[in-house]
Amino acid sequence: MTSEPVRIDVLTIFPAWFDGPLSVSLLGRARSDGLVEVGVHDLRRHTTDRARSVDDLPFGGGAGMVMSPGPFFAAVEALYGDLAARPRTILLTPRGRRLGQDLVRELAEEPALLLLCGRYEGVDERVAEGLATDEVSVGDYVLPGGEVAACVLIESVTRLIPGVMGNPDSSADESFADGLLEYPQFTRPAEFRGMKVPEVLRGGNHGEVARWRRQQALSRTRAVRPDLYQAWLDRSGQEPEQAEVD
Ligand code: 6GU
Repeated sequence: MTSEPVRIDVLTIFPAWFDGPLSVSLLGRARSDGLVEVGVHDLRRHTTDRARSVDDLPFGGGAGMVMSPGPFFAAVEALYGDLAARPRTILLTPRGRRLGQDLVRELAEEPALLLLCGRYEGVDERVAEGLATDEVSVGDYVLPGGEVAACVLIESVTRLIPGVMGNPDSSADESFADGLLEYPQFTRPAEFRGMKVPEVLRGGNHGEVARWRRQQALSRTRAVRPDLYQAWLDRSGQEPEQAEVD
């Protein structure tokens, strides 16, 4: 049985942002394989004034412009016929819940998503109130707009759609699948500019290789992401002594 493609629609004032990311590599292939369908829609097509403006001055004063609610609501109605028929709707904003692999997994279960790209200066609050089911940020830094964040979300969700990744193992056996950072990988040559591939990886002992990788993942996580390491300790119920690796 072949299942329906996952449908992702995007509302943006910069549709051209998406041309490259959607047509290359994993996303390009997932789309041509019919596993995901992405529609990018220009908010400007849903304006009503002659100047086709998508933003206006903030009530109460202050710097910058605020994106108007009208084009967002009109675009959603044009797409789905009725506001109530819209799928899970995500406003990309630095004030949102931070995207992590847990949320990515959750979103990958949805049959359809609608992504609303705001500009950093602001989006009229009624978009968050009346359209968005979720507000999502991709990290604690500022981007001028939500377009790159939407690409991040689309790529991270798409790779979890069944059939998108050639090797099902490669989506499981990596950073964050079990809450740890990935172990180091090597390919040929065995020695490159004086840097050698660890002997254990060349020995062919699968048990030793697995143990080495586990230890590398743990020590790397402890050094670089103590927050993830602690969470892993808490989850696995291990005493730090047992998890110490070097
Ligand atoms: Cl989703 N939007 C903007 N403008 N900046 C961000 C972000 C989103 N996530 C992190 N920084």
